[in-house]
Amino acid sequence: MNGYYLGQFGMPTKTGCILPINSNRMADALQPLGRTKFGNQANIGNVLSKEEALQLLTEWVPNEKLQLHMKQVAALMKAWALKRENLPEEDAHNWWIAGLLHDADWEKFPEEHCRVIIEELEKRNIDPSIIQCIASHGPRHFGVEPHSATDKMIYMFDELSGFIHAAALVRPTKYEGMDVKSVMKKLKTPAFAAQVSREDINDALGRISTPLEDIIEFIIEEQKSN
Ligand SMILES: [Fe+2]
Repeated sequence: MNGYYLGQFGMPTKTGCILPINSNRMADALQPLGRTKFGNQANIGNVLSKEEALQLLTEWVPNEKLQLHMKQVAALMKAWALKRENLPEEDAHNWWIAGLLHDADWEKFPEEHCRVIIEELEKRNIDPSIIQCIASHGPRHFGVEPHSATDKMIYMFDELSGFIHAAALVRPTKYEGMDVKSVMKKLKTPAFAAQVSREDINDALGRISTPLEDIIEFIIEEQKSN
């Protein structure tokens, strides 16, 4: 639709993103950002409000499936910050913004993803941790290593949340009654949602101390209720 290929089951692909036609070639064409420092330390604490972030999302991302993917990652990031990192609401808001905007430039500027949204947030003097997080959501593509917990979890959630959503879409009861075992089995089935990079999922998993089963269960529970 609209010249875009949504991947099997209409799910987003490439590091969890929606991909234009000939997706593999586009993913390969993503350019490293060529730098590893983002934003300005003087802007710590300067964030977009929820309304401002959602406005940017709707202006930059007309495609509703891509919007859904970004909202799902945002909700996971916020829930993880609150429930697993025990962070206060204002810190969890930063996690939410990074999740919500990580693919903001993908639809309109696929070949410059994620350079355009990074430069936009730098222009708006946004907290560097948010920009750093967005820059590190695909180390294989962007050449930026995830360092903080925020960076590592966006990388972890990006592919896996889209994969689990695809798995839910093919079930008659969607998320209801979905179990971890069935997702694990689908991950080991290369033909299922083949565009989702198992390599990235395993790489992300190797950077955190939480077992894959736990992450999958967390995603199922959160996405079921959102
Ligand atoms: Fe994504």
